[in-house]
Amino acid sequence: MKVALGVSGGIAAYKAAELVRLLQDRGIRVQVIMTRAAQEFVRPLTFAALSGEKVITDLFGAGAEQPNIDSAVEHIAVAQAIDALVVAPATADVIAKFAHGEANDFLTTLFLATTAPVVVAPAMNVNMWEHAATQANIDTLKKRGVKIVSPDSGYLACGMIGAGRLAANDKIVEAVLSALGAVPDLVGETILVTAGGTREPIDPVRFIGNRSSGKMGYALAEAAVRRGAKVILISGPTALKPPASTEFISVQTAEEMRNAVMAHLDRATIVIKAAAVADFTVSKVADQKIKRKGPMTLELQPTADILAEVGAKKGSRIVVGFAAETWNTLENARKKLVSKSLDAIVLNDVSRAGIGFDSERNAVTILTPGGAEDVPEMSKWEVAHRVLDAVVKIKAERAQQASRR
Ligand code: CTP
Repeated sequence: MKVALGVSGGIAAYKAAELVRLLQDRGIRVQVIMTRAAQEFVRPLTFAALSGEKVITDLFGAGAEQPNIDSAVEHIAVAQAIDALVVAPATADVIAKFAHGEANDFLTTLFLATTAPVVVAPAMNVNMWEHAATQANIDTLKKRGVKIVSPDSGYLACGMIGAGRLAANDKIVEAVLSALGAVPDLVGETILVTAGGTREPIDPVRFIGNRSSGKMGYALAEAAVRRGAKVILISGPTALKPPASTEFISVQTAEEMRNAVMAHLDRATIVIKAAAVADFTVSKVADQKIKRKGPMTLELQPTADILAEVGAKKGSRIVVGFAAETWNTLENARKKLVSKSLDAIVLNDVSRAGIGFDSERNAVTILTPGGAEDVPEMSKWEVAHRVLDAVVKIKAERAQQASRR
């Protein structure tokens, strides 16, 4: 997901720096565009360093002596590449230009050229905000589908008290997420997700592993970030790139995964254990590479059941497990739901071809103490959202129960 953040000239321009970070925390890439006036308040370098992208400051490249066709058409490229345009702070001037369709700098040109949703967060002096001209322009923009994040009331930079202060960044982020179609229903939650398979060493070069690719857990982590959660992703080795904006912890063995989960459990309000944890580990790991001679026997011992341990000390957390089953699937999964004190378990029938392990797709059944929901075959990304929907439902049921008490 990519968002263009237009910064126009006002004292509140510095607050847009934090907004860049908050959007990035939600896994969103940010292309900053500054108006000429904005550059009087904050230097483009600040935004370039924060966003990791070149800041767009001019319609025609650097200096009129070197008109540059690449930058002249850049607004079209940006217009096509973004999923939303957010302007914060938006001055009375920018709002007027948007309302009248003027296109005399990059930001106003982009506004006309993009078909992506637009979020505008005004900030200005109270009289300017309340002026009939500004209010008429705001009405025009609203009628055209622009989402306005109304300014807060309070002390203004000009010394007056009233409406005109840039809305809190959280409110702007929420508006952007909803413009992107991401329901921010996990805002305020910290979700600990485990993913991938663990590796139990046999000797310095060999290990016992499993077929887990980590795709389901990574999809869950990314989907949870999109829905507004903070995510701690604890992962065994995979071929995947850690999703942006997660706190990523890499582990190898079941024991390392256990230690990492326990070390971070305190901060988590929701735990989702999608990892395929080894059930057995080698009793005595050889110091040297084992030579190939004669038959050989490995002694294995069971690993600690992390999920059961989490379930036992879960407190008010919502805990979701996964169950990889090949036979008697529903009954086995239901037993795990109860024995590990889970709120939900996602049943994977791993005997079915083309889904589950190391595949892009999955089909699952989400079991809760009170029911079962069949999720037919779909992408792991979509399955991830279904699992998170189930979590949100459990949250809502708990809130309802609490309100009845
Ligand atoms: N799990 C765990 N720690 C382990 C083994 C499994 O936390 N040592 C978790 C997995 O992450 C998964 C759930 O328990 O969320 C179920 O894993 P699964 O392998 O299906 O079940 P087991 O409890 O290991 O039972 P069995 O292998 O006997 O079916």
